[in-house]
Amino acid sequence: MGDQSKSGYWMLIGTDDRLKRNDSTIIFDIDRSKFLSGFVIQRGGDLYAYVNHCPHNGSRLDWVPGDLFDETGKYLICATHGAIFEPETGKCVGGPCINQTLIQMNVKRDQQNIYVEVLPSLLL
Ligand code: FES
Repeated sequence: MGDQSKSGYWMLIGTDDRLKRNDSTIIFDIDRSKFLSGFVIQRGGDLYAYVNHCPHNGSRLDWVPGDLFDETGKYLICATHGAIFEPETGKCVGGPCINQTLIQMNVKRDQQNIYVEVLPSLLL
């Protein structure tokens, strides 16, 4: 577990070297007892983190862990019904949950380490 704070805690989920390729991701457990996971991606040097939970029916996006991008590498895709999401915003731009968004998480890089903020609201 990471540092405790008023709003949540920062959890170490991996290191920079796992995000070398443009479509690479880091998948991490938020609460294993609830089958709740998240993922971090890197685009243009910036990090983005989301809860691995499709707004359509709550499925995790990936069937194969970490396989989150469509064949173009441009969009995140939900494996269940094919909704596609902008990686930088989490907004659904095609599919059954159009205009809804993935739940974004705060993410930070400290030297080589990557942390996400786990808010209490995620664990309810
Ligand atoms: S569960 Fe993701 S598109 Fe239906």
